[in-house]
Amino acid sequence: MALLVVVAVARDRDQGPPAPALPGTPLRELAGERRIGTAVRGDVLEGTRAYREIVGTQFSAVTPENEMKWAFVEPERGDVDLEPADRIVRAAGKAGQEVRGHTLVWFFQVPPWVERLKGAELRDAVLGHVQRMVGHYGDGIPVWDVVNEAIADDGQLRDSVFLREMGPGYIEDVFRLVRQLTPKARLYINEIGADGINPKSDKLLEIARDLKGKGLLDGVGLQSHFNLKGIPDGYEENLRRFAELGLEIAITEADVGIGLPATPDKLAHQARVYRRIVRACVTQPACKGITFWGFSDRWSWISETQPGQGAATLLGDDLRPKPAFRAVQRALRG
Ligand code: G3I
Repeated sequence: MALLVVVAVARDRDQGPPAPALPGTPLRELAGERRIGTAVRGDVLEGTRAYREIVGTQFSAVTPENEMKWAFVEPERGDVDLEPADRIVRAAGKAGQEVRGHTLVWFFQVPPWVERLKGAELRDAVLGHVQRMVGHYGDGIPVWDVVNEAIADDGQLRDSVFLREMGPGYIEDVFRLVRQLTPKARLYINEIGADGINPKSDKLLEIARDLKGKGLLDGVGLQSHFNLKGIPDGYEENLRRFAELGLEIAITEADVGIGLPATPDKLAHQARVYRRIVRACVTQPACKGITFWGFSDRWSWISETQPGQGAATLLGDDLRPKPAFRAVQRALRG
């Protein structure tokens, strides 16, 4: 028994200190029926007590940031590891959180062995991957980012091994299979840079209208990766035109990058940008949720991948609230 206590104490010490208390009402309580989510990193969720506590207290939805991507699930053909994603799904179940399945078909982080496939072999591999993922999770994943970032900035379909080897019908083919495999799940197409009115969002609207007409699409995910240049023109109008198709909308990956250093003026500006993102959703009945792409600057893709940029999220490296956190609370409260 003594050994178990020692191990438990050691494990707790490794988990770090508890989360600092965040002021005011938790975001998930302010959001009412809407889901307020965050991208989560399974390793941090398991290894850092403060991160885990904030995820459970503040958010009613989670998106595995990387653990469900094909390159992570099956880096070598047949070498499948779903355990990291499973652990996130189990933790979310305990916390009463909805899990967004992210993502089944994406041009990026395609396993190298898939990139080399041609014709029917590629098609079989894609449909097999979709079958495995959707079959494995079943009703545990109520909403899927079925296809991610399928459109180029010029409004043409983005080049990918899927487009080259399966043709432009790959999008419908994948949606049709997922609909057949999991009729109860809500199926989304998710896009970056389609937040305002532009050639990419025009094409997204065309694809969404077609898929919706065939009974294959339930929602559109607008990622909303912004910076201090602010919100693109027509953001609210863009949400409206997807809503008019009878679709759900979700803000799926909101963050607001800052050119470092993050001065008080820049943090105040960031808070205003976050406020507008949240108000655009809460004033649009079809907008069912907002997911932030990480909630602490300590774990954000922005600072990891964009030199000179950072401080993109609601909480600082120290997990204490930035002006953006308070702005989101106020915007949710109306
Ligand atoms: O896990 C490996 C590690 O074993 C290895 O040592 C290390 C160095 O190569 O790489 C680690 O994997 C990295 C992974 O993040 C986990 O940290 C990948 O290289 C890196 O490319 C990956 O970046 C992710 C990126 O998508 C590409 O998948 C970011 O964390 C993630 O925030 C970002 O999220 C995307 C959305 O999925 C789609 N929309 C855009 C958004 C931002 O790019």
